[in-house]
Amino acid sequence: MRNANGPLATLRRDARMLLDGLRGRGPSPLIARPPSPAYRAATATDSASRARTLEIVAVTRETVDAVTIALRDPAGLGIPFVPGQFFTVIVPLAGDPPLRRAYSASSSHLDPSQVTITVKRVDGGRVSSHLVAHAAAGQRLSVLGPSGDFTLVAEPRAARHIVAIAGGSGITPIMAIARAVLAVEPSSRVTLLYGNRDAASIIFAAELDRLAATSAGRLDVRHVLEDPHGRAGAAAGRLDRDTVAAQLTAAGDLAAGATYYVCGPEAMMAAARAALVDRGVAAELIREERFAAPARRQASQVAVAQPVSIRRAGVTLDVIVAAGATILDAGLAAGVPLKLSCAMGGCGACAVKLTAGEVAMDEPNCLGAADRAAGTILACVARPLSPCTVEAS
Ligand SMILES: Cc1cc2nc3c(=O)[nH]c(=O)nc-3n(C[C@H](O)[C@H](O)[C@H](O)COP(=O)(O)OP(=O)(O)OC[C@H]3O[C@@H](n4cnc5c(N)ncnc54)[C@H](O)[C@@H]3O)c2cc1C
Ligand code: FES
Repeated sequence: MRNANGPLATLRRDARMLLDGLRGRGPSPLIARPPSPAYRAATATDSASRARTLEIVAVTRETVDAVTIALRDPAGLGIPFVPGQFFTVIVPLAGDPPLRRAYSASSSHLDPSQVTITVKRVDGGRVSSHLVAHAAAGQRLSVLGPSGDFTLVAEPRAARHIVAIAGGSGITPIMAIARAVLAVEPSSRVTLLYGNRDAASIIFAAELDRLAATSAGRLDVRHVLEDPHGRAGAAAGRLDRDTVAAQLTAAGDLAAGATYYVCGPEAMMAAARAALVDRGVAAELIREERFAAPARRQASQVAVAQPVSIRRAGVTLDVIVAAGATILDAGLAAGVPLKLSCAMGGCGACAVKLTAGEVAMDEPNCLGAADRAAGTILACVARPLSPCTVEAS
């Protein structure tokens, strides 16, 4: 709750805390002060920001640097999702605050009793390296979601052509989409262009072979490998603009109205988009999912801690957001149940309204011009540049 002595006293106290923290004489300004019991009572009803705990029931090694992790709810509850959506895994690692990372569901949405995520190790990556090396059956994971709109809603009566272009771990949401189309839409078909380094680095190689073999010609998988040895029929090269164009031409009859799903490394996605635009594919038919965090991170540019008032459920809590930290970090540390999902600017779940002050956000993110004009900011990638007030729902 607001300090009974008024805003001036609050500001003086915040400034004192901040200076003490920065001089090492008090608690670190990274951690906001704990909320009062009244604040907790007023905000305890919202469970949107709460993670659920899922149990790892199996870990399957896909390649030397990728694993598929099967998760179930220990109480037997379902884990529904729409094909193409992702879950946000919260991993506490020594020396770091809990880290949040998004991983797309790769299993069939038709079996909500369990969900699989497939994690590929990124060089120097903290969470991916940890999960690939240490995830094991019996462990538990905190998980948020599902979220994301890189989705396909399968409809039994649909008769359509889905063209997917994937590189490396970008296959994961496309796997769930392909499974859904093949299982639910008997009159639809899928063409998949899938780029990898070599035969050994193809995630889901055997499963894709099996799906294609049982699809009655409705799944056409076209592997593109930098080193094609060991994979009969694979094209040699990278999924660059020319190769994507050549493969689309070779795939033949890409009927007008095909929908394109693109997911993979940034360079591959740019090449795929350029090749599709060259072919006259309308922008609204191209769906893209980016795995990388926003390119322009603002943390290094925000050098000063700032006080932020967070108003929610009729109650205001004042927190100090440390230099480089986000409003979400500070709010959660103070016990404010702010909503979140991807935690990287991609889904909009953490949107709050900025009613005073100025923030810097990592870009690009999912906010549109109209959101920005209405004062909406994303708490997960917003760092205050001045004292701020935000309204959270
Ligand atoms: C919507 C969404 C869905 C995703 N789904 C999946 C999935 O299904 N499977 C999967 O393996 N990953 C997926 N990712 C990526 C995943 O969330 C992490 O970003 C990735 O595992 C790296 O996290 P880390 O903690 O290991 O790396 P960090 O410790 O955060 O980063 C270490 C270094 O790697 C770089 N880096 C971070 N992410 C990537 C990346 N994706 N590619 C290349 N370099 C990177 C960073 O810039 C940094 O230099 C998804 C991301 C998003 C936004
Ligand atoms: S939690 Fe997804 S945009 Fe902030």
